Amino acid sequence: MTSVTCTAPVNIAVIKYWGKRDTQLILPTNDSLSVTLSQDILHSKTSISANKEYAHDRLWLNGKEEDITKNKRMHNCFRETRALRRRMEDEDSSLVPLSTYPLHVCSENNFPTAAGLASSASGLAALVFTLAKLFNLPNSMTDLSRIARQGSGSACRSLFGGFVAWEMGSEADGSDSRAVQIAPDTHWPELEALVCVVSDAKKGTSSTSGMQQTIESSPLMKERLQIVPGRMEAMKKAILNKDFQAFAELTMRDSNQFHSVCLDTFPPIFYLNDTSRGIIQLIHEYNAANGGVYKAAYTYDAGPNAVIYASKEDMKEIIQLIAHYFPPSEEKKSTYFTDPYNVLQSK
Ligand code: PMV
Repeated sequence: MTSVTCTAPVNIAVIKYWGKRDTQLILPTNDSLSVTLSQDILHSKTSISANKEYAHDRLWLNGKEEDITKNKRMHNCFRETRALRRRMEDEDSSLVPLSTYPLHVCSENNFPTAAGLASSASGLAALVFTLAKLFNLPNSMTDLSRIARQGSGSACRSLFGGFVAWEMGSEADGSDSRAVQIAPDTHWPELEALVCVVSDAKKGTSSTSGMQQTIESSPLMKERLQIVPGRMEAMKKAILNKDFQAFAELTMRDSNQFHSVCLDTFPPIFYLNDTSRGIIQLIHEYNAANGGVYKAAYTYDAGPNAVIYASKEDMKEIIQLIAHYFPPSEEKKSTYFTDPYNVLQSK
């Protein structure tokens, strides 16, 4: 039996991916850009074993076996990585024919699954990276990002640490739709991210159906698609110049616009709740109280949980402020504190 365990980090988009132009290959309607968080605190850990004695492929997610017969995205990742392994085996007959062995996958998230905390990104990135290690694939992270994309779009960005763009590409086969690193994790060490778990309940509308609904019924989405290319360029510049003022405004505006297109679908989709909106207001008031200089920026994915970017220096005060107005409940820890830098590790 061959077995490998790897972890992969969460990434939080500052320019959001929302909308697919090809639902089979998972090709997006716009470029996106994210910050990879430290996997010390938030990560998916995946162990995969290959054994010819196993009856079939199986998955355990957070200790519970899942039915994977209809899990097309996972099968996409199996199919693509097995095909690469098969090519190696065809060229070298001394290799163990792992491409033909059934696989057992065990994956755990150390944070709420499917609560809009990018669990699919870290989960599918961990799956693809672990498969690549198990099969000893020589492929680059960019190659692997094309495969991870077919598991979950945002997963392609979790294969890199630091600041990562997902280039939408223009090829119909998706060959140029892949993740690239804009700057490494060491580039902007003063920047930190605070993840506020407002609710750990599973989200009501999955990102897949939310995107579909948005493409089909939001007139505002067409406007967004005109705006994102300019924002991508401005965001890359802000990151490379470590310009927090530009970074903060673009991040907040893009999060708000993403939630606006969700509200513009018919029927509307609500990912934010009253606490999320309260945190938005608090951050704006905090920035205003500092003479309009941005000290903090919020962003929300497809769920009510806030991610706040700020400098290391200001973060202590921001945590106190959030804890004061939105005190953590007794039974669950409401906040995580994390650094935005990372690389994948295999054990
Ligand atoms: O990769 P998915 O299908 O889980 O979609 C993620 C979409 C957002 O998290 C809302 C935005 C993003 O770019 O990560």
